[in-house]
Parts: sequence; structure tokens; C-alpha cells
Amino acid sequence: MKDKAKLKVVPEHIAIIMDGNGRWAKKKGLPRIAGHKEGLNAVRAVVKAARKYGVKYLTLYSFSTENWKRPEDEVRFLFHLMDERLRKEGQQLHKNNVKVLFIGKRDGLPVKLVKTMGWVERQTCKNTGLNLIFAINYGSRQEITDAVKRIISSGEKDITEETIEKNLYTAGIPAPDLIIRTSGEKRLSNFLLWQAAYTELYFTPIFWPDFKEDEFLKALFDYQRRKRRFGGLSG
Ligand code: FPP
Repeated sequence: MKDKAKLKVVPEHIAIIMDGNGRWAKKKGLPRIAGHKEGLNAVRAVVKAARKYGVKYLTLYSFSTENWKRPEDEVRFLFHLMDERLRKEGQQLHKNNVKVLFIGKRDGLPVKLVKTMGWVERQTCKNTGLNLIFAINYGSRQEITDAVKRIISSGEKDITEETIEKNLYTAGIPAPDLIIRTSGEKRLSNFLLWQAAYTELYFTPIFWPDFKEDEFLKALFDYQRRKRRFGGLSG
């Protein structure tokens, strides 16, 4: 384990593409759903680590607009798992001063899950600790398209980057400093495309269910070596 005391720069906002649950399960000869279940343990471990190291915003890509293409049973199981876990852990998250938010389209999600999402959001809305953002039924292109539609219907003529930003699901949330993708894939897959303009990217071959505190810390150490210039010159 690396020396935690050497961690000097912590990203304010980390967003994660949690990938590889299915392959993790396959490697172990287990059904895909076992991978999703273990994936939830990784979610818990990473939330804990984010709080421990002082990350302010953690966004987790939990279900994309493209994930509907998966077998119906698996989709149903994923929503059931999310609902169950949010119900079980909502109170605990609240006790830990975590503020839970959701980005994505709620239309089309099971009514039960949408209710649970509303409940957790209301329950934790005044909390001041970690902002935990679940992207569920989220797609960046859809988010940008919806933002443009909203601007047009508001009659706004002076369209600026700020106008667009204010109309994204992520309005008020700072852009991610670091995006992590597990499982060896090296792409953004329609995740936070606008917001990621200057984000540092970190790819690891580790499957999501194995991404626990140690791996999270590795990503933080990697990040602190980066020189962010935002298009300017380094100082
Ligand atoms: C990617 O693995 C993972 C997912 C599509 C689902 C991740 C969701 C969770 C762990 C639950 C989130 C929790 C809450 C409470 C909202 P994959 O199935 O794409 O793996 P593969 O690429 O190896 O097949």
C-alpha cells in the first residue's frame, strides 16, 4: 500500500464508468448477476474511500441509455438491485452526511425505483458531506439534446456555454476532474461528454467488482502526477 500521507492533491469530482461485472463473473464461472452483486460491494467500498480521502463529488455510471439493449431479465435484475440497495442503505448514507443525487431520464424506469430515488434524494438533500451522484438511464447526447430543447422552448435567444451548462442534468455540479474506467476499455461511452472537456482520464484493467480502496488510491496517486493546463501553459 502506498503511503496515504503522500496524497497531496485530491480531485474534487471523480466520475467512474463501472465496467466489467459480467467478465468478472465469467472468469469465476458465475452468472453475470453475481458480478453485479459484487459490483455493489465495490460501490460501497469506493463511496467509503471517497469520503475518507475528502472527495466532494462522486458520480457513478450505473445504467446508460444504451444498457436497455441487454437481455430484459438482466435489466430487470439491475433495477431491482439498485432499488433494494438504495432502500437498505439510504438511511446509512444519510447518517454519514452523504447527499445523494440522480442524473438521467426517470421516464421509462420502474415506478418503484423512481419512488425510492425521490425518497433518498429528499432524505439526504440537506447533507453537506460527499455528493454521491448516480447516473441512471443516463446518456450524454440525450442530456445535451434535452438541454437544447429546453433552451429553445424557454425562448432564450442568447445561447452561451453557460446557458447550455445551466440546462444539463449536472447544473450546479463542477465538471469532473478525473474519470475512471475499469475493465480495460478505453472509451467514454456517452458519459459526461460536455463536462469531460478537460477531465483527466484513468483506465485500469481491473474489473469493477475488484475495484476497492487500494485501486481507488492508485487512481488518486496517478492523478496527482498529472499537470492540468486547461488549454493554457503550465506555470
Ligand atoms: C458494467 O458491467 C456494470 C453495469 C452495467 C452495472 C453497474 C451497476 C451497479 C454496480 C449498481 C449501481 C448501484 C446503485 C445503488 C444505483 P458489465 O455488465 O458491462 O460487465 P461486462 O462488460 O464485463 O459484461
